[in-house]
This record gives sequence, structure tokens and C-alpha cells, in this order.
Amino acid sequence: MTESKALPYHSTGLRGELTVPGDKSISHRSIMFGALAKGTSEFKHFLLSDDCLHTIGAFEKLGVKIQHDDETVTVEGVGLNGFRPSKDTIDLGNSGTSTRLLMGLFSKQGFPITFSGDASLSKRPMKRVIAPLQQMGAQITATDGDYLPLTIASNHQLQAVNMTIPVASAQVKSALLFAAMQAEGTSVFTELAQTRDHTERMLQQFGGHIDKQGLQLTIGQQPQFKAQQFRVPGDMSSAAFMIAAATLVQNSELHLKQVGLNETRTGFLNVLSRMGANIEVEKVEPGSESMGDLVIRPAALHSTDVGGAEIPNVIDELPLIALAATQAVGVTTISGAGELRVKETDRIATVTAELRKLGANIVEKPDGMVITGPTPLRPTTTDQLDSHGDHRIGLMLAVAALLSPEPLTLNDAGAINVSYPSFFQDLANLL
Ligand code: S3P
Repeated sequence: MTESKALPYHSTGLRGELTVPGDKSISHRSIMFGALAKGTSEFKHFLLSDDCLHTIGAFEKLGVKIQHDDETVTVEGVGLNGFRPSKDTIDLGNSGTSTRLLMGLFSKQGFPITFSGDASLSKRPMKRVIAPLQQMGAQITATDGDYLPLTIASNHQLQAVNMTIPVASAQVKSALLFAAMQAEGTSVFTELAQTRDHTERMLQQFGGHIDKQGLQLTIGQQPQFKAQQFRVPGDMSSAAFMIAAATLVQNSELHLKQVGLNETRTGFLNVLSRMGANIEVEKVEPGSESMGDLVIRPAALHSTDVGGAEIPNVIDELPLIALAATQAVGVTTISGAGELRVKETDRIATVTAELRKLGANIVEKPDGMVITGPTPLRPTTTDQLDSHGDHRIGLMLAVAALLSPEPLTLNDAGAINVSYPSFFQDLANLL
């Protein structure tokens, strides 16, 4: 995944209609619940990106039959006790979501499982999941106690717990919910802040029970989940790249269809609207995961402050908010976002370094960034742009390039396949 790509630049507008790919978080979870259910589940508009293919590969290695065509996936459920041991290590590529959720899901199996990942994933902290799972009785040994490769030992018992989840992370929360549904007794988890709630929603959609009071979740053993058929909503985090582009590039008018509007994921729309963006939400379809159509037109932006409890809701969109801030009048601060340092790259460092190559006025802080705008974006050094192997950095830079009057090249452009393989094709259709 090291190829360089000449980026489209000097855009005169994004115009037309687009259905963005399926939601990554929901696609991963649909395979997990599909595998636990009785019967054959079918998911339309599934995201067949590198990350989700790693989740599919993991379940196939553990004996689950999964088939797919271009965008529909079928999963033959085996239930909690129907998995088969894998002789091989399970490679989870770049996918933190697969790794962390599967650690919880497979924390009580009668055979050991070993996970590995690529260079980036092998540097990401796993203790945040390992420690609470160990408290529940899971037996996990990891490299230096924190990193992949790691092995979950054969284990026949988990105990319920009452705990505050130490990090505001949907991945950690979801791992704990998967373990809690296999534990003796009823567990109570308190979140530090609301994080995306796809696991809780999907659990109920498959016939399970979970109680939510504010930030407190109560969960015990579950009835047998029943297979489901549904359409995966468009990924708000992928739509965000196109929303930012149509906001920043003059003469745009972009219609996005069936984008997921789960309230724990729409923080980007709130922040950009607060900055002055022109985003209309139409034809909302309610459901376990609601979706709707969006119309985006260009707008002059002004600065804002992003921080506190809002952060988990915009965590994946912060690189794009930093980009938008370079075009906004005033000083934008992003704070309380130290989690960015442990994503696919240290995104505070990579966003700052890469946007500076384009002339942005951006200062790195331990837990965020301060961006002063507006500044024109154009190449200011001979260094090429670089995704650093991080899909969201590569995608953000491709949006930035649309504003440049001069050509730009992106190194390691293949990283975008982790979440949005059709991005350059989709963009070309709108330019
Ligand atoms: C995800 C949760 C977020 C997000 C990631 C997907 C999920 O991570 O950054 O892209 O599907 O649960 P954290 O929950 O660790 O912040």
C-alpha cells in the first residue's frame, strides 16, 4: 500500500448525487451479531473495505460461513458455542475495531485464539480492553502486556462486573458488552461520555436485552439472537469527506443519499453547521439505525471550539475539522482529544505536519490543535503529502488538494482502502 497518487486539484465544484459506502462500525458489528445468531443473516450495502474484510476473515477462520457479492453479505450464524478452533494466527490487518471487539467476544471459548495485526495496529494500546476483561476472568497475554500479537487462552468462566469504563471508547465498551453477555450475573458499565452506540442498538435488533439509563448500561446473559436482514446506512465518517469538500469548494451542490444519522455519530454535522456550513437534512428514515439524505452547498466558515463530551462523537472527523478550520475566519481550538494520538497514526502529529506542508497555520497541543484561518492551501515545500498509512489522513488530504491551485501528490494513497476504497472514483464522478 505504498503507491503515490496525483490528486485532483483546483476544483471548480462538486455537483451531483452520491450514495456513500456502508458504515464501517455497523458492518463490523453485523458480522459479529450475524455469527452469534441462529439462522442466516443478510446485510445489504455492507462495506467491503480492507478493515471489514479482516473481520470476515477472522470469523471464517473460526468456522463461520460467510458469502458476499459486490455489496451484500450473508452470514450463517453458529451461536456462542459453535466456533471452531483456528490453527493459524488471526491477522486483523489495520483494524482496531475488529481486534478490540473480538477480544471481548472470544473471551470465553474452549480453545485459545491468537491475533496479530499490521505495523500500525501492533503499536495501538490493547491494555484498555485487556485489563477490564481480565477483571471479568478472561486470560489474555499480550506483547509487553499491551500490544499485538496477543493470545486469549481457553476459558470457561467470566464474572459480571460493575465498573466505570476507563476510556470514552466505543471499542472498549463494545468488547465489555460482548464479554458481559457471556458472564455469570448482571454487569453494570458506566461510560465517561456517550460514545457511538451501534453495539447496543444491534444487540436489541437481534433480539437481545440491554438497559440504558444515561451513561449507565446494564447487561446480562442473552436469549438466542435471531438472524436479521437489513441495509447498512451510509457511513457518516466517509460522507464527512464529501460534506467538507462541498462546503469548501465554491459552486458545489452535493446530494448524499441514505447516510447514517445515529445521533452518536452526527457531531461533525453539528460542528460544521456551527462554523456556518449549509447542510440540509431530508427524508429521514427512522429505524434501529436512522438514515437520511443530505444536501450540501458551499459556505463561508468561521472558527469554533471543539472539546469535552463532544469529542467521542467527532473523533474520526477531527482531521477534517482541522482542515475546515484552515478555511474559517478566526482561531479554532480542538481540545480534550488526546485519543487522537492512539488512532491509526498519531493524528495530532500527522494532521499538523501534513496541513503545514500546505501552508496552514496550525499548532500541535498535547490533547488537540489550534488552527488560525483562513489560509490559502497550496504546496509550500517539495515534500509530497503522505497518508502515513492512515486512511483518514489520506482522505482528508485528498479533500485539501481540491482547494490547491497547484498539483499535489499523495504518498501511500492505498491506505484509503481501509474505509473508503471507492473514494477517488466517487469524487471523480462529482467533479
Ligand atoms: C469505532 C470506535 C472509535 C472510532 C473507530 C471505530 C467503533 O474508536 O475511532 O474508527 O466502531 O467502535 P474508539 O471507540 O476507540 O474511540
